[in-house]
Amino acid sequence: MKDYFGYKDKVAVVTGAASGMGKATTEMLVDLGAKVYALDWQEVKVDGITQYIHVDLSQKESIDQAFENLPDHIHSFFGIAGVSGSKNDFITTCKIDLLANKYICEEFLTKRMQKGDSIAFITSTGGNGWERDDNKDVFLPVLQAKGWEESLQALEQTGMTQMPGTMGYPFSKLAMNYYTVQLQQTFASQGIRVNAVLPGSTDTGMKDEFTQMAGGEEGLLAHCGYAGRLATSEEMAMPVVFLNSDMASYISGEHLIVDYAQTSEEVAGLKTVEQVISLKGILEYMKNMQK
Ligand SMILES: NC(=O)c1ccc[n+]([C@@H]2O[C@H](COP(=O)([O-])OP(=O)(O)OC[C@H]3O[C@@H](n4cnc5c(N)ncnc54)[C@H](O)[C@@H]3O)[C@@H](O)[C@H]2O)c1
Repeated sequence: MKDYFGYKDKVAVVTGAASGMGKATTEMLVDLGAKVYALDWQEVKVDGITQYIHVDLSQKESIDQAFENLPDHIHSFFGIAGVSGSKNDFITTCKIDLLANKYICEEFLTKRMQKGDSIAFITSTGGNGWERDDNKDVFLPVLQAKGWEESLQALEQTGMTQMPGTMGYPFSKLAMNYYTVQLQQTFASQGIRVNAVLPGSTDTGMKDEFTQMAGGEEGLLAHCGYAGRLATSEEMAMPVVFLNSDMASYISGEHLIVDYAQTSEEVAGLKTVEQVISLKGILEYMKNMQK
């Protein structure tokens, strides 16, 4: 049988591999014959992985250490780890959900990938509206900064750092959705593809935190539309495994929204838009409150 996905014996690096979507992705990649390097700050318990590597994605030194232990050639990178922000401050949330991905791609993947290789992130529909100027104006300086320290300084200058960690989540996801397009441009001349999956509400290790933020299970289910249930981790792993595979060889810079038509109905005007994030609007509101 032809290996359509093309993962056999390829090196795949997965962050967030201990739980939820990252774990489901790791399991699928092992089944497809990849050599999987599973990164997380919790131990990864998946049979058949090549190596578990401990990493704290909020620490530059820990990321550097992890990449010292990774092969010189990485065929596929899956940037999946993340936190909801409910247990972290704004900066830490952004370090894990945004800066770590940026640093890994710019510092390591630019040197360790070749033509035909691929990068895919799990971002979020919580980052819908990434293309709007009132969001771009706030997060772009962070994406334009070079290296860990400069990016961190740019983040500190956004004026948002006093906000709770739960605001770091949409900030990071808006920026990551834009970054997916920015990064594919960086890698295009090398023939390396970059894409993202934008999940809707999914039953993972984060479920309890999102349930609390939504004011209970009913609130969370209200975001699930016709599906009438949360997605499973496997239902997010399948599209991200597809995007990084040979099956998606002409797909780059794509946002694959996996929310059972919630976003597309909003775009079509078939459903009321529930919440539109405006980072600039939030900053102006904060300024007025301080007057
Ligand atoms: N669950 C949802 O409803 C939902 C919706 C949209 C997007 N997402 C995104 O999906 C991605 C995967 O999350 P999930 O829902 O599977 O949650 P999860 O909590 O099950 O998995 C997240 C993983 O990231 C790891 N992680 C967190 N902080 C880390 C750090 N500092 N260093 C190393 N590893 C760290 C955790 O240990 C965990 O294994 C995240 O980026 C999340 O933002 C989730």
